[in-house]
Amino acid sequence: MTQRFDWPADRPFTIAIDGPASSGKSTIGARLAADLELPFLDTGLLYRAVGKAVGETRIEDAAAAARAARSLDPTALDDPALHNETVGALASRVAVMPEVRQALLAWQRDFAARPGGAVLVGRDIGSHVCPAAPCKIFITATVEARAARRFEQLRALDDGVIHSAVLAELRRRDARDAARAIAPLVTPDDALVLDTTSLDVAATLEAARGFILERAARCR
Ligand code: DC
Repeated sequence: MTQRFDWPADRPFTIAIDGPASSGKSTIGARLAADLELPFLDTGLLYRAVGKAVGETRIEDAAAAARAARSLDPTALDDPALHNETVGALASRVAVMPEVRQALLAWQRDFAARPGGAVLVGRDIGSHVCPAAPCKIFITATVEARAARRFEQLRALDDGVIHSAVLAELRRRDARDAARAIAPLVTPDDALVLDTTSLDVAATLEAARGFILERAARCR
């Protein structure tokens, strides 16, 4: 019989899942949250919503971006347009602004502290937003494997997409995420690292689930 996630309903239990772009972390995080019956926050959507709110014309205006971050409406996170590549590029530009990151911090920490547990996916959840999270998972894959997946996703929408352009954009995004001064993408020392280059979704889920149950049993 599959072991159940058994955690007191009145105590927080933050599951922090981080990793580079297109590593599969959002898919894995959402599936885990559904399986464990926990609330789920894809924090990339916060940066995407801020990027979309300021738009291309004001993208360099950090004060406007911080205002958009402070007044973010949670229902804006359901907008399907947040998932497109143009918004992704705007998101990575507002994500380097310290004012924006600061404005989104309390929001993310409140979500993480929900009683009964919560799953958050991002780049800096285990390292910066919730450094004391009892359960940290870092999902990664080679840039070539991530580009191949991204290429297949994009090609389903547009057959004009060029593989070398997808690979170059991912490399640019990795460099920007890792090099920014505030909350860069790092692997927390106490994280379970799952390399999905040669691990399918089912195997990744199984490993992550086992780790979460073990951490929950230990922290009770
Ligand atoms: O995971 P994503 O592609 O939806 O993220 C969009 C952008 O936001 C990406 O450039 C990284 C950034 N981001 C971040 O800086 N910190 C997070 N916790 C989540 C996303």
